[in-house]
Amino acid sequence: MEYNHFPVLFNAVIEGLDIKPDGVYVDGTLGGGGHSSGILGKLTTGKLIVNDFDIDAIEHAKEIFATQLDKITFIHDDYKNLCNNLIESGINEVDGILLDLGVSSYQIDNPERGFSYIKDGPLDMRMNSEQKKSAFEVVNEYSEEELSRILFEYGEERYSRRIANAIVKEREKEKINSTLKLASIIAKTFPAKDRYKFGNPAKRTFQAIRIEVNGELDGLYDFICKIALMLKKGGRMCVITFHSLEDRIVKRAFAELEKDCICDKKLPVCVCNKRKEVEILTKKPIFGKEEATINKRSESAKLRIIKRV
Ligand SMILES: C[S@@+](CC[C@H](N)C(=O)[O-])C[C@H]1O[C@@H](n2cnc3c(N)ncnc32)[C@H](O)[C@@H]1O
Repeated sequence: MEYNHFPVLFNAVIEGLDIKPDGVYVDGTLGGGGHSSGILGKLTTGKLIVNDFDIDAIEHAKEIFATQLDKITFIHDDYKNLCNNLIESGINEVDGILLDLGVSSYQIDNPERGFSYIKDGPLDMRMNSEQKKSAFEVVNEYSEEELSRILFEYGEERYSRRIANAIVKEREKEKINSTLKLASIIAKTFPAKDRYKFGNPAKRTFQAIRIEVNGELDGLYDFICKIALMLKKGGRMCVITFHSLEDRIVKRAFAELEKDCICDKKLPVCVCNKRKEVEILTKKPIFGKEEATINKRSESAKLRIIKRV
């Protein structure tokens, strides 16, 4: 399957990173390499570290960047391990970091990866195929209460209880093992008048299961707070999110990094030693809505940018 992924908010990201030709940049979520290609285009003697826990993304990038391998370091790991991985590679500070969170179009559009509620495939949804837990396990083994909570929290699905109950009833008859089977169970739980009111009825449930399978929100806050401190003074970090749960975490982490002394104002001297570490450059996020006519995935995208002080 061809690796198609149109980079979201490409110009805003490249501008936001304020790339220095001799700088060191990190793309924590390589995907189809669209943003990485833009970064590489601005480097002369600089270096780019690309990271993805999907081996297909790494293999694809090795092909498309074959003539520039001297500038690139590939890391096949969870981006949450980036701080250690960078330090182990002898890199203690960087000029820019990009995180373009979530799944790539390649992963969504490839039915074999099991993310699609339109095309049939195995109930998988792992971005990292080496990981053990897949959507099959979540759908067939989680308790009804757990399923309902995940659908409500991660999918903001108003019919979470009904759907969880329908899944449990169906799996008592036989295991649910394909994406279209799950999608049809979900569709039937909706009252006919509401079924297509907010798009495909399976959309929110699939998003929720995907977030659970890939632990998309786990450790994100701590990771951002930690890796931002690896930026050189003036260095930039860009983060693109695709749903409000992720965006809230990014916003909160950036706000924490920007805070100066958090001592009680009544204290005569500072005892907390908290200092402003970054400046938030996007008081409001940059929205992808405008480019949604050429790239559907941009519709819900939000970009936030900080600069190390
Ligand atoms: C939206 S795509 C990135 C697209 C990329 N910016 C481009 O221009 O093609 C997100 C990528 O991040 C990867 N990813 C998501 N979570 C990850 C994690 N925790 N660790 C490493 N890679 C992750 C996915 O496998 C996917 O390839």
